[in-house]
Amino acid sequence: MANLGVSLPGLEMPNPLMLASGIQGGNAAALHRVAATACGGLVSKSIGPEPREMYPGPVCVEAAEGVVLNAMGLPNPGADAFAQLLQEETFSKPLLVSIFGGDAEEYALVAQKLVAAGAGSLELNLSCPHAKPGSRALIIGQQPELIQEVVSAVRDAVDVPLYAKLSPNTTNIVEDATAAFKGGADGLSLINTISALEVDPHVGRPVIGNLLCGMSGPAVRPVAQRKVAEISLAMQRGELPDAPILGIGGITTALDVARFIQLGASAVQIGSALIWEDAAVFDRIHDELVEFMETQGYADLDAMKGIALDSLEGLS
Ligand SMILES: Cc1cc2nc3c(=O)[nH]c(=O)nc-3n(C[C@H](O)[C@H](O)[C@H](O)COP(=O)(O)O)c2cc1C
Repeated sequence: MANLGVSLPGLEMPNPLMLASGIQGGNAAALHRVAATACGGLVSKSIGPEPREMYPGPVCVEAAEGVVLNAMGLPNPGADAFAQLLQEETFSKPLLVSIFGGDAEEYALVAQKLVAAGAGSLELNLSCPHAKPGSRALIIGQQPELIQEVVSAVRDAVDVPLYAKLSPNTTNIVEDATAAFKGGADGLSLINTISALEVDPHVGRPVIGNLLCGMSGPAVRPVAQRKVAEISLAMQRGELPDAPILGIGGITTALDVARFIQLGASAVQIGSALIWEDAAVFDRIHDELVEFMETQGYADLDAMKGIALDSLEGLS
């Protein structure tokens, strides 16, 4: 049988299929339930310094086929409660703990609490507004200097592998990745949701309770693939360190997983697909991936990693 194992900083996984942040990863029962499937790893809901309630609904809708819109408002139990969860629970799959904050200090504080409680690797969700006055119109992930500042503050605060989760809502994702690596990131996760807006024409108002929202699901996959490719190519040219990429965006089949890996991703995360298929999506995609690799004659993931980049070489 093809070997699906993936060995990344802080993440020794039986296969490359990870739960994406924000979908069922906010409490122990949900994490155990996903861990019991054929997934390779888990990412928690993004955890911030204090507990937060959900925005008024609707918080998540499917606006068209394959187009998922959400504005949840980063609801989470807060760093202290999640630290307690980490102390009490052992999960059967590696857990990448996602964190956020309003500024670099808050990220570092949350990171310290969660690592002290046992978090073995962190994903930094950079798609949050910065608390600094005047900065709120932009998220941290749209300002390379703030990306570097946040990653570097967490790097100084804890000694576990750090994955910087990049936003697609920027002009030059390679610049964002450069800032993350300058700050000390060990790897990258991309993409987070794409800025979006949907209107209900019957009432002349936005559909989502928060008005503005982020888009995910199958419709965003080609955008995510382009961003992953841009970073992989920059790594090949030596402009970025050769570090693991966790590919995210619209994955619903093993062919999608293969697409991201062929563009240089080391593993993938799956979020919106759980809306339709629940956690069992991991069992289906796992079986499909084994079959695909055997049919194609790939002994392991490295055999197909980056092969689609060959035809893109020379593009910048
Ligand atoms: C309902 C919902 C909640 C999300 N919450 C978070 C979150 O807390 N932190 C985060 O980094 N990303 C969050 N995301 C983004 C996903 O992790 C992922 O980056 C994005 O949805 C693209 O992947 P997908 O198309 O497989 O869903 C959320 C997405 C959805 C749909």
